[in-house]
Amino acid sequence: MKKIIIAPSILSCDFTRMGDQIKEVESAGCSFLHIDVMDGVFVPNISIGQPVVKSLRKATKSILDTHLMIINPERYIDSFIDAGSDIITIHIESSDKTFETLKYIRSKGIKAAVSIKPKTSPDVLKPLLPYCDMILVMTVEPGFGGQKLIHEALDNLREVRKLVDESSYNIDIEVDGGIDVTNIKEAALAGANVFVAGSAVFGKPGVATAYKALNDVLNY
Ligand code: DX5
Ligand code: ZN
Repeated sequence: MKKIIIAPSILSCDFTRMGDQIKEVESAGCSFLHIDVMDGVFVPNISIGQPVVKSLRKATKSILDTHLMIINPERYIDSFIDAGSDIITIHIESSDKTFETLKYIRSKGIKAAVSIKPKTSPDVLKPLLPYCDMILVMTVEPGFGGQKLIHEALDNLREVRKLVDESSYNIDIEVDGGIDVTNIKEAALAGANVFVAGSAVFGKPGVATAYKALNDVLNY
């Protein structure tokens, strides 16, 4: 059984207080942060980039899990590694160089992950299993925090869990989009072991309490 990890997404934090808010979740036991990078082309929104990863790297020892929602991500792998990412996730829908890019990320000594949007069939992941350390299953259309989980996308999670279990690969399965205390258990039962939570952690007034609440539901 893989380790259970809650990955707060800094997209929902108060950027004027990011360092403090990160210290707060870390005091509650968090050591894994999700960073949503959006280019306004692959997704209809723009967020943050390498400078923020670089600042975070100086401020924390937590795992920096960088989710690239950008077109042709192969152009920016080196710069996100240099900035301090520990894991880089690319979308299978964002480029025709997914194989090469996953191999390249690993060759640089960090973890490689691939993501599918809710309408993408998990079948496309089969040939990629040997090249990834983590698979990210989106449960909202990527682009915005604070959306409601698309229930049907949990079927993708179940399929990905089956694919991984039937393979010989040791792959984490991350779920991202609309995760909160009401549905995190269901996502775990569907097969995820890494849970991104943006508004359910940094969108709450007490981020440490909110982080613990998600953990409690999973451990119950
Ligand atoms: C959506 C992002 C998510 C999002 C999560 O495009 O990839 O990581 O910020 O936020 P919540 O948990 O609020 O859906
Ligand atoms: Zn994300």
